[in-house]
Amino acid sequence: MASVPSLASTLQQQLADALTAALPDAGTADPLLRRSDRADFQANGILALAKKLKGNPRELASQVTAALPAGDLIKDIEVSGPGFLNITLTDRAIVETLAARAADGDRLGVPPKAAPGTTVIDYAQPNVAKEMHVGHLRSAVIGDAMVQILEFTGENVVRRHHIGDWGTQFGMLIQYLFEHPDELRHEGDQADGEAAMSSLNRVYKASRVLFDSDEEFKARSRDRVVALQAGDPETLAHWQRFVDESKIYFYSVFDKLDMEIDDPDIVGESGYNDMLEETCRILEETGVAVRSEGALCVFFDDVKGPDGNPVPLIVKKTNGGYGYAATDLSAIRDRVRNLKADTLLYVVDARQSLHFKMVFETARRAGWLNDDVKAHQLAFGTVLGKDGKPFKTREGTTVRLEDLLDEAVERATAVVREKAEKVGLSEEEIVENGRYVGVGAVKYADLSTSAVRDYKFDLDQMVSLNGDTSVYLQYAYARIRSILRKAGDAKPAAHPELDLAPAERALGLHLDQFGAVLEEVAEGYEPHKLAAYLYQLASHLTTFYDQCQVLSDENPAEVVENRLFLVELTARTLHQGMKLLGIRTPERL
Ligand code: ARG
Repeated sequence: MASVPSLASTLQQQLADALTAALPDAGTADPLLRRSDRADFQANGILALAKKLKGNPRELASQVTAALPAGDLIKDIEVSGPGFLNITLTDRAIVETLAARAADGDRLGVPPKAAPGTTVIDYAQPNVAKEMHVGHLRSAVIGDAMVQILEFTGENVVRRHHIGDWGTQFGMLIQYLFEHPDELRHEGDQADGEAAMSSLNRVYKASRVLFDSDEEFKARSRDRVVALQAGDPETLAHWQRFVDESKIYFYSVFDKLDMEIDDPDIVGESGYNDMLEETCRILEETGVAVRSEGALCVFFDDVKGPDGNPVPLIVKKTNGGYGYAATDLSAIRDRVRNLKADTLLYVVDARQSLHFKMVFETARRAGWLNDDVKAHQLAFGTVLGKDGKPFKTREGTTVRLEDLLDEAVERATAVVREKAEKVGLSEEEIVENGRYVGVGAVKYADLSTSAVRDYKFDLDQMVSLNGDTSVYLQYAYARIRSILRKAGDAKPAAHPELDLAPAERALGLHLDQFGAVLEEVAEGYEPHKLAAYLYQLASHLTTFYDQCQVLSDENPAEVVENRLFLVELTARTLHQGMKLLGIRTPERL
């Protein structure tokens, strides 16, 4: 593994050293380097520094320029405006740096973190015996991307699927199953997710009807909750059937999403049951939680209801029951103490932000979270329909995830089929690509806007070949692969001695930023910045094709090789970036 410093960071370092050399008393100063339209980079930091030292910025800029080391990096540097530096790099430096990236396999010169931590990430958390909805899609897609990205940076990642598998609603379901044992499918049935969900739905509806109409059934259901919490083996066995049946369904949806979820990582609310009492005891003994109207509560100065009265976090209800908060607090203890996490990341709907704010603050007061162990909610917004309202079917019910994915794949397959003959795809490839393009379209739409923003679910736009879509990126990749196949005996090879065309330089400079972008994405939990980077990469590639022929008889052999080298590195960067977002890049499209 070779760590390849980016051109920007090498330049930044040289400028910082030159600043120190020119102004030994200035301490460490930031040259404030950024990409620029006028040159490759512009350094703006000298202006502020000169002001601070009451010097002449243009003079200082010249001194810095003089103090820069001679070498192959900088082709041209000029003082401009009130004291900016415009810097152009040599073509050689660009190609040599990219060649070092290309020689570094899948890592593309991006070094793993020197001191990785442990992040527990809570994502893809559907609820037992319930249909998954688009909110669960977002958590799964964003969470999976963050897992891949963090792992790529070298972080230890522990996945936790905090499924809703506990609570009073199970009393009704289990009691119903006791009384109608044949209504849920039997184990050994084919692992068919849809059949599992429809049988769960049936039981759910039937038990609900009974619960609402039959007082005696209601009473028996309440007793059943007590038996469940007390760990009665027969009750637990019936509960387990709901969990198992639901998992068949969950897995079928995750499978459609082309996403790997492992059973040991599914630790639902029930998994913390044994800790709840202790969690409450500690909170009460330390005074973090207090009794209020019979419930155990935590209060916050800044959390008030519309009437101005404080709204507490309830960790134990008046009737002795534990809720969502007690479970989440126990999960924090488990993740910090047993999983040795130093970061807890929650990929959960923004509508639960108040809950997490109160839970995190409670955990801080209890000392479970502190400066070394931090929690963060990666909050996501709502998926909207074309009408701008929360996404629903025409009948006003929540959209079934499977239907939505099926439709995306269907549309995508039609798009793929249109070009299939020209590309020479077999029926099998059309089907496979249709799936990758359809699922990719849904994921990309979810990942390409900042998570916290709402977005419109618009399949027409998602599978469009033009614009900021995954299909556009997938075509960019496939086109490069096609060129590489057509290249015959000509092989990609870097030629640092060649002069680069403007479009080649722009592509190259963008390629070089991959590592820096990933670092930012991982730090801020912002996968949309990776999507934006990849889209820009594909756009640079499009401009490059417009201006530079790759396989032309008029090109000298070195130019062909160097251009093949550039597009091949672009393909590998696209492939790696898309993979981190959970999106496939078919070889032929
Ligand atoms: N199951 C919950 C839901 O469907 C999401 C769980 C989020 N994670 C957590 N630790 N509370 O809304």
